[in-house]
Amino acid sequence: MIKIVNVVGARPNFMKIAPIQREMVKYKHIEPLLVHTGQHYDERMSKLFFDDLEMPKPDIYLNVGSASHAVQTAKIMIEFEQVLLEHQPHLVVVVGDVNSTAACSLVAVKLGIKVAHVEAGLRSFDRTMPEEINRLLTDAISDFLFVTEQSGLVNLKREGILDSKVHFVGHVMIDSLIHFTKKAALSTIKQTLGLADHSYALITLHRPGNVDNRENFCKLLNAFELIERDIKIIFPIHPRSKKMIKEFGLEERIDRMNNLILMEPLGYLDFMNLLHSARFVLTDSGGIQEETTYLGIPCLTMRENTERPVTVESGTNILVGSNTDLILSEAKKILSGNEKKGKIPPLWDGKAAKRIVDLLFNC
Ligand code: UD1
Repeated sequence: MIKIVNVVGARPNFMKIAPIQREMVKYKHIEPLLVHTGQHYDERMSKLFFDDLEMPKPDIYLNVGSASHAVQTAKIMIEFEQVLLEHQPHLVVVVGDVNSTAACSLVAVKLGIKVAHVEAGLRSFDRTMPEEINRLLTDAISDFLFVTEQSGLVNLKREGILDSKVHFVGHVMIDSLIHFTKKAALSTIKQTLGLADHSYALITLHRPGNVDNRENFCKLLNAFELIERDIKIIFPIHPRSKKMIKEFGLEERIDRMNNLILMEPLGYLDFMNLLHSARFVLTDSGGIQEETTYLGIPCLTMRENTERPVTVESGTNILVGSNTDLILSEAKKILSGNEKKGKIPPLWDGKAAKRIVDLLFNC
């Protein structure tokens, strides 16, 4: 029996582990154990996703919660070490670039347990982003590096990672998107909100660089105020952004936007449903840049850089930073029918998890 620990911690991890876990349980000789660090813990940031993605309940929940980077990372490491000592797995699988990813991979290698990093090789070259540090660290110490796009191969080569460790497999997040397309179509979220297809823009916003800085946050609000004159905006809000709106005293400005619907974070299926028929998306998320590229939906990314360059080079993504004028002019282009067209990147075909499991276990 091959014992595997699959790690999840934060919202963007769930849709990446789900297809891997589903693929592993097909094989009698593989025993996957699902560990949730508890980095995200609100019902709407976690449990809802387990339900939507038909994931089994975590076998082990570490309950670490929110804290500073050092405290959160340290707590995960202390708790996760006990899990590995008790269960002695052959391999730990981590996904993405959140604090749980880096913390768990570090604990595993120090115990001599092999680590597979899914979504390896992405680089924004911006070390002020906590995720960039997590990516660099995790890739440097992983034994298997599963890459989603061509740039990942180039980055890992430049960093001196052995070719034999690196595998271009496509994207497990797109596996989930494809797998749940039909189910997401059954969501009634658009009826609930009274939305016709392509009649709204969808916004997500949570990066510290955007929301922890009042000036930047206000520049983005300026853009939203101008956009909502032309199109309804749906804004499911991340807890970090909600907290900062309150702290910066920006509630009134948001309330005044009559054509902006602010709502609690959505589950996976409702969000996918809205994404499929959005006129365009404004986001600072990583994964949403890729989901929109896959779906051919125009995406304006409120960041200066992206670790997912394929979405800009061949997808529908445009980087607009927090530049109010640029956001507005790109939004207007889309609304007048001059949107950027793109194509689906290689191997984003719904089979990434199968490739990963085949490569790991010669299935
Ligand atoms: C984390 C990831 C980020 C990812 C994002 C997706 C890191 C460094 N960052 O950022 O890469 O894009 O998740 O959502 O790992 N909070 C709640 N309830 C929750 C979780 C968080 O209220 O369930 C609040 C807390 O006030 C917390 C803050 O959100 O302090 C930030 O949470 P944290 O996990 O530290 O980072 P995220 O901004 O969510």
